[in-house]
Amino acid sequence: MALPKPPQTASDPPRALSAAEALTPLIESTYTSPDINFYLNGKRTVLRNPNPHWTLLDYIRAQPNLKGTKLGCGEGGCGACTVVLQVPDRRSEKRRVKHLAVNACLFSLVGVDGKHVITVEGIGSVEKPHPLQERIAKLHGSQCGFCTPGIVMSLYALVRNAYNPETKRFHLSERDIELEGHLDGNLCRCTGYKPILQAAKTFVTEDLNGQLAEDVPELGDLKLEKEIVDLVRNGCGSKSQGSCGRPGGCCRDKPSDSSSDEGKSPASTPPTEPASGSDDEPTPAVLDIAKNPQQDDSISGASYAKPLKSKENIEAGTEVKTTTSLEAPLSGSKHGVPQITFQEYVPGTELIFPSALWKFEPRPLCYGNDRKIWFRPTSLEQLVELKGAYPSAKLVAGASEVQVEVRFKNSDFAVSVYVSDIPEINYTKLPSDAELETAKELVIGANTPLTELEAICKDVFAKLGKRAMVLEALRKQLRYFAGRQIRNVASLAGNIATASPISDANPVLLASNATLVAQSLGKGEFVLPMSDFFIAYRTISLPPDAVIKQIRIPLSPPDTKEVVKAYKQAKRKDDDIAIVTASFRVRLDPDGIVEDANLVYGGMAPTTKTATKTTSSLLGRRWFSSETLDAALTTLGEDFDLPFGVPGGMAHYRKTLTLSMFFRFWHESAAELELGEVDGQVIDEIHRAISTGIRDDYNPYEQRVVGKQVPHLSALKQCTGEAEYIDDMPKTDRELFGGLVLSMKAHANLVSVDYAPALEMPGVVGVVDKNNITPEQNIWGSIRKDEPLFADGKVLHHGQVIGMVYAETALQAQAAARAVKVVYEELPAVLTIDEAIEAKSFFQHGKNLIKGLALDDKMDEAFAQCDRIFEGTTRMGGQEHFYLETNAALAIPSGEDGSMEVWSSTQNTMETQEFVSQVTGVPSNRINARVKRLGGGFGGKESRSVPFACYLAIAAKKEKRPVRLMLNRDEDMLLSGQRHPFQARWKVGMSKEGKLIALEADVYDNGGYSQDMSGAVMDRCLTHIDNCYQTPHVYLRGHVCRTNIHSNTAFRGFGAPQGMYFAETMMYNIAEGLDMDVDELRMKNLYVPGEHTPFFQKIDEDWHIPLLLEQLGRSSDYEKRKAAVATFNETNRWKKRGICLVPSKFGLSFATALHLNQGAAYVRIYHDGSVLLHHAGTEMGQGLFTKMCQIAAQELGVPLDSIYTPDSQTYQIANASPTAASSGSDINGMAVKNACDQLNERLAPYREKLGKEAPLREIVHAAYLDRVNLAANGFWKMPKVGYKWGDTNWDTVLPMYYYWTQGAACSEVEIDLLTGDHTVLRSDIMMDVGNSINPAIDYGQVEGAFIQGQGLFTIEESLWLSNGQFFTRGPGTYKIPGFSDIPQIFNASMLRKDNDGNPLSWNHLRSVQSSKGIGEPPLFLGSTVFFALREAVKAARVMNGAGVGPGEWKLDSPATSERLRLAIGDELLKRAEVKQKDGEKSFFVTVS
Ligand SMILES: Cc1cc2nc3c(=O)[nH]c(=O)nc-3n(C[C@H](O)[C@H](O)[C@H](O)COP(=O)(O)OP(=O)(O)OC[C@H]3O[C@@H](n4cnc5c(N)ncnc54)[C@H](O)[C@@H]3O)c2cc1C
Ligand code: FES
Ligand code: FES
Repeated sequence: MALPKPPQTASDPPRALSAAEALTPLIESTYTSPDINFYLNGKRTVLRNPNPHWTLLDYIRAQPNLKGTKLGCGEGGCGACTVVLQVPDRRSEKRRVKHLAVNACLFSLVGVDGKHVITVEGIGSVEKPHPLQERIAKLHGSQCGFCTPGIVMSLYALVRNAYNPETKRFHLSERDIELEGHLDGNLCRCTGYKPILQAAKTFVTEDLNGQLAEDVPELGDLKLEKEIVDLVRNGCGSKSQGSCGRPGGCCRDKPSDSSSDEGKSPASTPPTEPASGSDDEPTPAVLDIAKNPQQDDSISGASYAKPLKSKENIEAGTEVKTTTSLEAPLSGSKHGVPQITFQEYVPGTELIFPSALWKFEPRPLCYGNDRKIWFRPTSLEQLVELKGAYPSAKLVAGASEVQVEVRFKNSDFAVSVYVSDIPEINYTKLPSDAELETAKELVIGANTPLTELEAICKDVFAKLGKRAMVLEALRKQLRYFAGRQIRNVASLAGNIATASPISDANPVLLASNATLVAQSLGKGEFVLPMSDFFIAYRTISLPPDAVIKQIRIPLSPPDTKEVVKAYKQAKRKDDDIAIVTASFRVRLDPDGIVEDANLVYGGMAPTTKTATKTTSSLLGRRWFSSETLDAALTTLGEDFDLPFGVPGGMAHYRKTLTLSMFFRFWHESAAELELGEVDGQVIDEIHRAISTGIRDDYNPYEQRVVGKQVPHLSALKQCTGEAEYIDDMPKTDRELFGGLVLSMKAHANLVSVDYAPALEMPGVVGVVDKNNITPEQNIWGSIRKDEPLFADGKVLHHGQVIGMVYAETALQAQAAARAVKVVYEELPAVLTIDEAIEAKSFFQHGKNLIKGLALDDKMDEAFAQCDRIFEGTTRMGGQEHFYLETNAALAIPSGEDGSMEVWSSTQNTMETQEFVSQVTGVPSNRINARVKRLGGGFGGKESRSVPFACYLAIAAKKEKRPVRLMLNRDEDMLLSGQRHPFQARWKVGMSKEGKLIALEADVYDNGGYSQDMSGAVMDRCLTHIDNCYQTPHVYLRGHVCRTNIHSNTAFRGFGAPQGMYFAETMMYNIAEGLDMDVDELRMKNLYVPGEHTPFFQKIDEDWHIPLLLEQLGRSSDYEKRKAAVATFNETNRWKKRGICLVPSKFGLSFATALHLNQGAAYVRIYHDGSVLLHHAGTEMGQGLFTKMCQIAAQELGVPLDSIYTPDSQTYQIANASPTAASSGSDINGMAVKNACDQLNERLAPYREKLGKEAPLREIVHAAYLDRVNLAANGFWKMPKVGYKWGDTNWDTVLPMYYYWTQGAACSEVEIDLLTGDHTVLRSDIMMDVGNSINPAIDYGQVEGAFIQGQGLFTIEESLWLSNGQFFTRGPGTYKIPGFSDIPQIFNASMLRKDNDGNPLSWNHLRSVQSSKGIGEPPLFLGSTVFFALREAVKAARVMNGAGVGPGEWKLDSPATSERLRLAIGDELLKRAEVKQKDGEKSFFVTVS
């Protein structure tokens, strides 16, 4: 092994020895082993000299059968890569193990030595799932499934740690699951989290005194069965009053009818039993599986994963058994309420800690190559010796900083040293109680994992009380520090040594005057005070050859009046780095005079910084005096006088937080020291309770298969990691991997592109760019062809693809792509809508909507009729799709006839085929575009996935080798486009009674550098700007801005959420202007059947908005709660609440892209009775395959699991429309039905002959022998629609939409006025989905879309730098909602009856099974959180005497904590004002 040369950086000590000179003696004497010994899923594994660039994830994913552990972000921010480390619990005196969920994407491979690594495959399989996997699958906790293995593993660690083998007791509470941060490192973009929490809560045993069956033989089946049923009957474990939402009913649910429960809180009243049900017996949610295994198989999805075994010796008419349950009845439902069976959890049967590891003796390790080498010392002495020999060696503990640097900042540390296995520094010995009594400080081992530290802090604080207040402050910071997987391995030393200005721990350590104990070969052990440690931005005073050994945290002396507290404000509460973080300590003398103080802030300067001026001004002053408070607030403003353009942005907000946090501390300390009366409300931060929520599970329209709550057919495979995504497909022969060369500039001429440095790198095979295709082949586009595949002469946005390097491995290709030298000549960039308007930078669009007097160009006359006119400009930011699986593709050339198979994570097989055909120069019939499943799409893979397939096809054609690509998260976010940011400049005229008369608006979307679907998105926005309200005179103009940002694209809702957001914003402005209740205003202006939209579509009998508003208003107790909110706001000065109830209608169809409103299916019945189904749709988690199989099973009269859909591909279905516009079920479902109808017709004579009861296999076999065609092509085109833009002729105009999916939601929020933090107290949603094909899947769409919408309108904010570089490129900077952001009470129901209790019918719809598309419509309802927040802010402004009339204030979307805080209109805000100087630019740019 050759050792690397030392990096030539200025910080190297003069004339440093090379690594080889310095380290070879140590390698020869101490580090003699290159072997990593560990267990993987119970199997002993030895890695000899593995690839030193590999993380644990790289290693795992390189194993052929371990593809369940996913790469979602590579930066510790999503949890998709979670695995569990089983290690001895050092704190236990007995031989006990503990289970640590860790991020494999960060974890150093060397760190597994001596440990047991458990991946999702290790705990169960489809054949034998772990109860966690089974329950998540059955309770609909997996949609696209890409996040699922990671979530399973986080829960696995939790569940396993809940069992104490010594006492044989299992204890897990809802609090453990929800409030202790065990899931804060996992993200899911599909489900809305609720079903995952429900599945986890089925393990809760707190009401059973922690007793759970541990051993089958001991307890016997009967007892097990009883206990599980007891779990349901006797208690749900929730301390809260409401239902825990357990499927099939919680013990607190009171069966009743949602439409008639006036006056009751829906948390306890919505129905879980059919209103008509005569059976009074409570229905257990958990049944004994053994009693009816067939029932369960038929709906679980488990049986579909099993291969069909062919039958032998079939004779027509003879009964033949297969190994599948083809004939299993599809039951599991009682009176329309799904009944779910689970296997019980038996903790004693889990994977054990390998006995060999108990005896494991770690040895010093060393492995690597001439570019990178790893050391793993096992003692502090070895570490210090190594650092002494080679000071620039990089220490690595939890790697949560180091690996992020390696991956995203291209830091390649030549010598890395893993320090987390060194007992002297990775452990903190808890002093005995007697020692604690007299202890002056707590000494912490530098690399003690943060989870352990959290527990130690809690423990010592519990014992010492106020003396250990500093530890409680540290614990509070650690609770909201990164995610659990990071806290399980990251260390305090890592945090301190990184010297990040936004470190959460450093303010506490500085405020408490902590010291560091360091050690080096030359100096031995020495002490460094924290106060001198941070020299400049990420620069510390630790000598390069030294290591941090301990951190000493002083405890408050007994009987002193000292208070230490910590505060943090981030964009998202869980797993987010701080905007501002602070810790304060104050010590008073017996007279209440400040004796000592330390106010330390993070996020306010390049280092963690003490407010020196304020601190010294406080000394000698009486603490509990308003003058002291006032003076301190003034000097704090001087200590942190941020300029407007400060790096990191948010100057005004950050300064306001500085004051607000101190303000809170002053009150809290006064209360703590009992100095006098203080307003307790100032002290309270936003708290979150355990969430509850119900679905209205009763479905009166249930049929044999359709209408049943069948779990997603791949759910179990997704939960066990067996479901395959593109990057999981086995490596094909001679496969290459692509690495994209991306523009670093937003707008520039390409002066030169030099690939030579990349081509010289190991493993690199070649490169493709615009020179490999003709200029015509280089242009593509979804609607208009206006976009170069590879940049040609110019780059038009940051991240534009210039070329693609390909190499033998992904890591080689990505490194090579970064080595390409590009010279740019920068040009001015247009980023925002305002800049585009000023520069007149638009794409041609020119589509308007006109109605009423606008038709005669007489809007002036319309406005002249109005009593009041209101105007405004409203902005709404974009949204990153954040599907968990980034774009991926694999092109496999066949070698014959130029044909090629192209696997792509795409929603659009046809367009993939079309453009691959274009770039390879062969007709479409030689390109098979395929997709099995996507790890989420949400519109982001409708068109933007196409170029990646093209790049690979070009390279595959050139090299005659397969080429694969999976984008890194940052690449995906950078270049694949987002939801369009919008701006509307509107004017609306009203009668004095509150009737809408005239509306005129110019609406702009930010299309980015190419058109993609920006025009169509604008069209849908304009056609939804009416939301549910009638306006007689309308003139709407759409403008598509051309800018130098990525090309924005389709995203769930496709412009409609933006349109409806504008509508509702106008309603609030009007209501405020007219001083009218906004609900009254809404009701006055609701459409009534017979009225027409601005595009002349008639509101027909399918108009359920009034019903939805009334029924949801009743079931959510809206009026009563609205009054309660008003009372709350009158009595609370520091928290405000808001509530709203908003309707929504969403038009279904591909609108004016008429040709896309067609579906196709191909159904083949094999002579064993099994059915192969292909259709034009793709499966991206939305459950389309499940619904299509249900329809086929229903129509053909066969069991569900006799239908199989392997994938979507252009060789099976030609000219497939993209799976989009919520129309997948409509168009393809009808096509499936059409194919089944044809088959049924052909089979009718045989049915007649063999009898109605004959199984399909008999019928089919008979038909086959008669040479009947058992394959049918189904087709359907949507009738009725056909709107043409500009058609204003009442006689000829056709509808744009087939029907409206309608809904309403009511949300209530609470906001902390000091910080802008908020929580959603409760959301209730009611949707009209017609006759649902599968209510479970539809509820999944409703809840998932709502949470996605909540994110869109609150915490999700895309930011650019002023030079045009895109900033928010990963989960670290872009926050989607996490587990603890969902509404605390989250109820969903479906409209089923009219207000008199009569069942509604949707037979007029003529859609498949009279169902309605549901994918997109509920997303807008997430805006109810925004509007409720707006109401809360308004209440605060009223209290503060700030204006609330039109033009006096506004709140744009997203309502980030920054925007909310800056709208409060209080005194602190004014004191913290930051003035923009002439020409001063904001650090961040928002582009709406
Ligand atoms: C997704 C994510 C979320 C995060 N959230 C937060 C957050 O909320 N708050 C926050 O403050 N930070 C956060 N961080 C940053 C990071 O997790 C912390 O700084 C963590 O404490 C680093 O510890 P580590 O052991 O992983 O350090 P490593 O990455 O292993 O090391 C970091 C640095 O410390 C040095 N080092 C480690 N041990 C020693 C030692 N004994 N002596 C001398 N030098 C040493 C290393 O050489 C390296 O330079 C987050 C990071 C990620 C990836
Ligand atoms: S892939 Fe590891 S946390 Fe996202
Ligand atoms: S199911 Fe969680 S991300 Fe798709």
